[in-house]
Amino acid sequence: MATSPTNPSSRAVGTVAIRWHGHALELLDQRLLPVDEHWITLEGASSVAQCIRDMVVRGAPAIGISAAYGVALAARHAGGGDWKAEIKQAIRELAASRPTAVNLFWALQRMEQVFHECHSLDEAVGRLASEAVRIHEEDLAANLAMADHALGVIRPDKPISVLTHCNTGALATGGYGTALGVIRRLHEENMLQTVYADETRPWLQGSRLTAWELAQEGIPVTLNADGAAAAILADGHVRWVVVGADRITANGDVANKIGTYSLAVLARHHKVGFMVVAPSSTVDMSLASGQDIPIEEREGTEIREIRGVPLAPAGVKVFNPVFDVTPASLIDAIVTEKGVVHNPNITGMRELFG
Ligand code: MRU
Repeated sequence: MATSPTNPSSRAVGTVAIRWHGHALELLDQRLLPVDEHWITLEGASSVAQCIRDMVVRGAPAIGISAAYGVALAARHAGGGDWKAEIKQAIRELAASRPTAVNLFWALQRMEQVFHECHSLDEAVGRLASEAVRIHEEDLAANLAMADHALGVIRPDKPISVLTHCNTGALATGGYGTALGVIRRLHEENMLQTVYADETRPWLQGSRLTAWELAQEGIPVTLNADGAAAAILADGHVRWVVVGADRITANGDVANKIGTYSLAVLARHHKVGFMVVAPSSTVDMSLASGQDIPIEEREGTEIREIRGVPLAPAGVKVFNPVFDVTPASLIDAIVTEKGVVHNPNITGMRELFG
């Protein structure tokens, strides 16, 4: 059997949420943060798919990386009979875990391409593990490059405050983060006054994950209810709203965590910059506009209760789309590792992504 490639998380910057050990994948259970830091060990693609569905791991790039490791595990633990059918089934199962973040399908496509080139199970075990590690490492490198590009756009001449939504940090990526990577870089350059972190109802990625991640590293964070964002922007202290993305279409529309669209409207109204930071693995040039993006709806219990404690009348009807689409016209810059698309539209997107 091929030896397993090294664990990219050992080179990560900041918090680590994904650890690869060759025979097993370890995921930090993000459902339990910030109270418990509990790791789950997975040895099969089905359990990886389950963890993606249940949000043990979440955030577009982290979902793609985990799915890639899931395919590597499927090869590693294939029964030896029809190993090709087993790996194909694993890819199908992983692809069905969550619908909106295109990074999942992008990563699976890369894994599938390598799988098709393999002539034996032994070869597949080695090459699929290497490809998954490469996807993980490339994401970390992309985050560092995006932070450089974003600073070139923001050009801070004195410390500034920014507002962010959801969690786009090391927990959501291969390390460092997309929007949160930019915020990290501002802090490293002594150019950050504070980050306003939307709590991000209903799953609370902002309060449970972003505030935790930033506090761990001593980065100044101020947590606010989502509904406070308008008042914060009206106050005039925030220069940029910086967010991540789950899918960016050919015309520059962006799907991201529910509530992002309202922030973009607010930012435009208050003449605050609106920046989307995402790796090119989030770009889906096959979709013409945001209207074509499948938007995940999750269970009503996420809104009706928190950890079993009721917050609403039992059984009340709930609308729980977990992403929304921000039209390109409200976005000032889309920052990727390949460069920046200013005032995105189909021409600008084509120039960078073909
Ligand atoms: O439902 P989640 O937590 O997976 O949603 C995450 C987001 O919407 C993030 O903003 C996005 O994936 C970018 S993560 C770098």
